Amino acid sequence: MPYPEERLINDPVQTDNPYWPQMARIVRIYKMVPDNYVFTLRFTDQRRAERFKHKPGQFIMLSVPGAGEAPISISSSPTRPGMLELCVRRVGRVTDALYRMQTNDLVGLRGPYGNGFPVEKIAGNDLLIVAGGLGMAPLRSLLWYVLDNRDSFKKVTLMYGAKTPADMLYREELQSLVDRTDMRCLLIVDRDPTGAWKNHVGLLPTLFDHVALEPANTYAAVCGPPVVYKYILQKLLGLNFSKDRILMSLERRMKCGVGKCSHCSVGYKYTCIHGPIFTYWDAINLPELV
Ligand SMILES: Cc1cc2nc3c(=O)[nH]c(=O)nc-3n(C[C@H](O)[C@H](O)[C@H](O)COP(=O)(O)OP(=O)(O)OC[C@H]3O[C@@H](n4cnc5c(N)ncnc54)[C@H](O)[C@@H]3O)c2cc1C
Ligand code: FES
Repeated sequence: MPYPEERLINDPVQTDNPYWPQMARIVRIYKMVPDNYVFTLRFTDQRRAERFKHKPGQFIMLSVPGAGEAPISISSSPTRPGMLELCVRRVGRVTDALYRMQTNDLVGLRGPYGNGFPVEKIAGNDLLIVAGGLGMAPLRSLLWYVLDNRDSFKKVTLMYGAKTPADMLYREELQSLVDRTDMRCLLIVDRDPTGAWKNHVGLLPTLFDHVALEPANTYAAVCGPPVVYKYILQKLLGLNFSKDRILMSLERRMKCGVGKCSHCSVGYKYTCIHGPIFTYWDAINLPELV
């Protein structure tokens, strides 16, 4: 059952309450790959839509009426305001309920939360983005932020790996970047059952053989399943990337999203406020982080 919209919108008492979700309408559902849909949302309150600002790498707490809340990365770039895009994998209670919703239905949003990528620090440097599987969701926001501010960044390289072409998120969009001359977009799949794939086939780390990187001037932003961290970190450290130039987007189970409940704590840090973007340096000091 949808929230009583009139109760939630523009409620002067609740506007500053961090636990109070703001209503957003689902304006588009794009069934990108099975069990990975893109939901485009717009706040029902126009002033809220105009005030909402986020950084690439930040997340929101998405609530689905009757099901609960889940943290989800914002995969659209702040350079394209007005709408929010979430790329959501169906895995459990909240995401299942979201998949049953239709366009025009209402969901709740709190946030944005988390630190996001340090784009001001990255500006003026080369950027290497390495994504595996659903890791493309938070990194897509960074990718478009950088491409929309292209003059502020030096060499930009994207390496993205999926199991098969059919599993690749944003496949058409990323394919259209392959021919761009102001960046390198390297796409790879573990296997190509169709035989029609025109990009690389193999494991994600092999893409390092195709680019010449300058680690001293490069930030690396990495997100993916644990196996991606294992092999990509080995590669980056082997190339002498400085530990504070390796940025990782990490996930933990969350409840409040605002540093109050301790659900997401790792050592003395909270993933919801000190993360979800951590440097490799953080990971050394908090071994259970990765
Ligand atoms: C910062 C951040 C960003 C994220 N961004 C995205 C994103 O962009 N897209 C996306 O699809 N997902 C994203 N996630 C992951 C998403 O929040 C989780 O998958 C979330 O659990 C989904 O909620 P759910 O209710 O649908 O699934 P749940 O019901 O929570 O189940 C999810 C999985 O966790 C298991 N599980 C349930 N309870 C527990 C428990 N107490 N301990 C351990 N395991 C448990 C379930 O068996 C199931 O396999 C992000 C998470 C974080 C922290
Ligand atoms: S989710 Fe509550 S402290 Fe991070």
